Amino acid sequence: MPQVEIKIGPQEQSFECMEGENLLYEAISRSIMIPFNCTSGRCGTCRIRVLEGAENLSEMGDREALRLGEERIEQGFRLACQSYVFGDVRVEVPQPRFY
Ligand code: FES
Repeated sequence: MPQVEIKIGPQEQSFECMEGENLLYEAISRSIMIPFNCTSGRCGTCRIRVLEGAENLSEMGDREALRLGEERIEQGFRLACQSYVFGDVRVEVPQPRFY
């Protein structure tokens, strides 16, 4: 099963999930609080930065790409609500200075 590691500030938490599961829902269900609002890729609240394993997440869709913009995509950002896990991944919930 894929291993997901989530860094929030100085803390890092990890869990295993089934292949193809939604990153945001899996985190929230384990009380790992990634900020979110719409859960549909529209608000951008659930931005995360992928530190390792970007290739193990689902491909980015048009809505997600539009919401993030080129600069954030180049910096490795994804929307957790639009990201499905297909292998090991390590992500960071950015602190406010990254927004
Ligand atoms: S929660 Fe709104 S874009 Fe993910």
